[in-house]
Amino acid sequence: MKLTDFFSIIEANHTFQNPTSEAKLDQMISYCNVADGQRILDVGCGKAWLLRRLISRYAVQADGIEFIDSFADEADTLAAAQPSKGSLTITKADARTVSPKPAHYDLGLCIGASFAIGSFEEMLAWLRPQIRIGGMMAVGDIYARATPVPPESAKHFSGGAVRSLQDTAKMLDENGLRLVGLIDSSLDDWDRYESLHWHAADAWLQNNPDHPERNEFEALIEPFKRDHIHSDRESLGWSLFVCRVLA
Ligand SMILES: C[S@@+](CC[C@H](N)C(=O)[O-])C[C@H]1O[C@@H](n2cnc3c(N)ncnc32)[C@H](O)[C@@H]1O
Repeated sequence: MKLTDFFSIIEANHTFQNPTSEAKLDQMISYCNVADGQRILDVGCGKAWLLRRLISRYAVQADGIEFIDSFADEADTLAAAQPSKGSLTITKADARTVSPKPAHYDLGLCIGASFAIGSFEEMLAWLRPQIRIGGMMAVGDIYARATPVPPESAKHFSGGAVRSLQDTAKMLDENGLRLVGLIDSSLDDWDRYESLHWHAADAWLQNNPDHPERNEFEALIEPFKRDHIHSDRESLGWSLFVCRVLA
């Protein structure tokens, strides 16, 4: 089974695809100094919950990049159905193939999608130059609650070294990003996000008893559950980091 098909099945019922809450995403927006006329980029935007929220409130041009067609299509359909002051353009592509636009945006977002570019460090290096000096960046990512973390949790650091919250703040600082807002996720946020995966997977298994890729599907979903319960829930945290882009 293609991983993109797997994710479109298990994230079918997520409105936003991260371990946070609507209230926390709204809190994040309030730290981002969004104003009419701005340009906003969200890499790995998924169903574009955030961009849709932003265009409902502000006359902004929102650009999303998303490589799973079903998520991009859902984003477009939902955007078309809501009253909006701004406009949304989703580019259906692998983010690594999209040419960066230097200093083009007022706000850059990458919420739980660093791996769309590479490691957390590589995502910062790709996104930051696309934001004008004085603009804002908001990124969401995991961090290690304590080191060392078990290998099954360490593997979530998408090609980069295991990072604590303090390491992450230091890395932002070293990249000329002044941290102005930190919003941490609770265990309830994590459990809800993970349970939505299991719940959608269970429905798929019930509805597809003879599917030729059923065994593959089960082999993919089981480690999700096992890692969350036995390791990630205790070892990892997840936070939104809102930053000012400095000269
Ligand atoms: C954890 S989800 C987060 C989605 C969204 N940011 C949110 O908070 O709801 C990560 C998203 O990144 C997308 N993605 C992963 N790799 C990508 C790539 N190379 N290019 C574009 N999108 C990618 C996935 O399809 C998925 O929708």
